Amino acid sequence: MKPYIICHMLSSVDGRTDGDALAGVTNEDEYEATSAQFESNAWLCGRTTMQEILGNDEPFASASNIPAGSESVHVARLAESYAVCVDTHGKLRWTNGNLRGDHLICLLSEQAPSDYLGMLKENGVSYIVAGASSVNLIRAMDLLGERFGIRTLLIEGGGHINGAFLQAGLIDEVSLLIAPGIDGRHDVAATFDGMNPPNNVAVALRLKSVEQRANDTLWIRYDVL
Ligand SMILES: NC(=O)c1ccc[n+]([C@@H]2O[C@H](COP(=O)([O-])OP(=O)(O)OC[C@H]3O[C@@H](n4cnc5c(N)ncnc54)[C@H](OP(=O)(O)O)[C@@H]3O)[C@@H](O)[C@H]2O)c1
Repeated sequence: MKPYIICHMLSSVDGRTDGDALAGVTNEDEYEATSAQFESNAWLCGRTTMQEILGNDEPFASASNIPAGSESVHVARLAESYAVCVDTHGKLRWTNGNLRGDHLICLLSEQAPSDYLGMLKENGVSYIVAGASSVNLIRAMDLLGERFGIRTLLIEGGGHINGAFLQAGLIDEVSLLIAPGIDGRHDVAATFDGMNPPNNVAVALRLKSVEQRANDTLWIRYDVL
C-alpha cells in the first residue's frame, strides 16, 4: 500500500539546503515548477521545516501529559491533495486542517499526548499514530496509502527527515535541483543528513535524467537502487 516516494530538493553544489542562501544564486520558482511535473497528490516535511511554514515556535503544552499509547488513525476528511507533517511528540500547534490548499495529516509517535490528538481532531486535522518512541515511517506510509489513497508522495525536506526516509528504504526516486552556488557552512543541513549507512557505504543511485533549467540550475533525477 506504500505510495511511490520521490524526494524533491533544492541544494547548493556542496549539498547544503538553506533556501535563503540559495535564493541569491537561483530562481526558487524552479523548485515549484519541477515539482508540478510529478503526478503526486501529497507532500511531506519534517517538524523543523513545518515549524518554519507554520511560523509559530510555541510548542503545544499538554494539560494531562498522558501519551497516546497505541496506534490509531483519524481521517478528518478525504481530499484531492495532502500536506503531511512528521512530528514525533506532537509539538506543532495547528489551528486548522488546511495547509497551502492541501488537507493536513500529522504523523505522530505513541509518545504524543492524547490531548494533542484531541486538539487536532477539534481543528479538523487528520493524524496517524504509528511507532512507540519515534514515528514508524514504514507503517505510516502504508496507512497513508491505505486510509487516504495517497499514491505518489513528494518528500520535501529538510535533510534529516529525508535521511530517515532513505535509511528506512522508503525512497524510490531522488529529484535534485542543483543551484549554481556553494554554501560551505558545516552547520547547514545537507540534502540527506544524520544517516548511519551500513559499513559507511553510500546508497547507490541510477541516473534517470538531467535537464538544464533557468539560471544554470540543473535538475537531476535518480532511481534509488
Ligand atoms: N532546499 C530545500 O529544498 C529545502 C526543503 C525543505 C527544508 N529546507 C530547509 O531545511 C531546514 C530544516 O532541515 P532539518 O534537517 O534541520 O529538519 P527537518 O528534516 O525539517 O525536520 C527534522 C525533524 O523532524 C522530526 N522527525 C520525526 N521523525 C524523524 C526521523 N525518523 N528522523 C529525523 N527526524 C525526524 C524531528 O523532530 P521531532 O523529534 O520533534 O519530531 C527532527 O528534528 C530548514 O532550514 C528548511 O528551510 C530546505
